[in-house]
Amino acid sequence: MASVRSQSKLFQPLAIADGKITLKHRIVLAPLTRNRGTPYSESTPEKPNRIWVPNNLMVDYYSQRATDGGLLISEAIPPSLEGNATPGVPGLFIPEQAEGWKKVVDAVHAKGGYMYAQLWHAGRANIPQLTAYPPPHSTTPVKFVDYPPIEMTVSKIKSTIQDYCNAARLALKAGFDGIEIHGANGYLPEQFLSSNINHRTDEYGGTPEKRCKFVLELMGELAKVVGQENLSIRLSPFGLFNQTRSTQRLETWSHLCREIKANHPKLSYVSFIEPRFELIYTEAEKQKFLDSWGLPDISLEPFRKIFGETPLFSGGGWNDKNSWGVLESGAYDALVYGRYFISNPDLVEKLRRGLPLSHYDRSTFYGPLEDNSVGYTDYPVYEKGLPN
Ligand SMILES: Cc1cc2nc3c(=O)[nH]c(=O)nc-3n(C[C@H](O)[C@H](O)[C@H](O)COP(=O)(O)O)c2cc1C
Repeated sequence: MASVRSQSKLFQPLAIADGKITLKHRIVLAPLTRNRGTPYSESTPEKPNRIWVPNNLMVDYYSQRATDGGLLISEAIPPSLEGNATPGVPGLFIPEQAEGWKKVVDAVHAKGGYMYAQLWHAGRANIPQLTAYPPPHSTTPVKFVDYPPIEMTVSKIKSTIQDYCNAARLALKAGFDGIEIHGANGYLPEQFLSSNINHRTDEYGGTPEKRCKFVLELMGELAKVVGQENLSIRLSPFGLFNQTRSTQRLETWSHLCREIKANHPKLSYVSFIEPRFELIYTEAEKQKFLDSWGLPDISLEPFRKIFGETPLFSGGGWNDKNSWGVLESGAYDALVYGRYFISNPDLVEKLRRGLPLSHYDRSTFYGPLEDNSVGYTDYPVYEKGLPN
């Protein structure tokens, strides 16, 4: 069995970044927000801290998961103060953050690995308490409902895209091998794509084509900064997270993908989240939504067809039982692992050797914790001496 596993396509090379990078295996670390950053400044009720920087603990965490020729995607990184939706998330908009990320990337490179920065703007999934005012030291619970989203002006759209570009420049400085736009899970780009959220009547809303304009513009500007071969995007066309309840999903995301393919034929890769996979919904609930949209047997196949040779990744629900034979079927080129990579720093080796996976502890997924190493860098690796 071990030899069958090690001969799996999961362990065959894959060229991304228009051939600039050849991965030695196809087990990719998913972008995972872990909220383990160090506060940039002392936080007081008068002067609350809202900026975090990467630290040595994060260097250890990513380094533990780095392998020779393996690809890691960073946790979601806000390109601006207001892009961040939760405490403890190190952004990429001040030099100190770029310096901190450089230490992380250097450690990954030292092990022969590659690392992309996932750029993330939370958009309306944010509240002023985190990034603006009043201070986060208040003990009064804050309700999202009390802070209804504000439609962005066109000039705000343009300046937000420039924030992403600035973060991308800092990412290059930090040594990241490329950029992944977080276009999934109901954050800013997907808010523009979703008919139930985007009620605009200008050129950014009203039809599937117009709802794609923001993402396409963003990609166009980022490609100018980093080069299309170093750019990628993560999409969740059938997701429900953060209240995305879009109609016209196939029309919208197909248009988006056709345009991306046409504008950026050398895109590094495209990453999808599996339909019917959701952390917060049961299979039955998800099925109810899909049935009600008239999409009972949905798959990522239409997008695979549109993207053709562009490397296509899939994430959501992959484990040591269901990963085999998937890449051989031609559906995807690489598999992205989240929760099992949290609890198994040596996931690549375990999959290769058929070693049992450790289970994850949800309660320590997100910091800040009293001891931020708990559930972060303290998951054990396999014991030496186990049979090959
Ligand atoms: C703790 C945690 C943090 C996550 N943070 C992000 C993130 O920053 N960006 C993102 O695109 N997805 C994020 N996700 C989604 C994961 O990347 C992945 O799609 C999801 O966990 C499903 O894959 P899995 O079944 O292998 O865990 C997160 C998931 C978890 C559990």
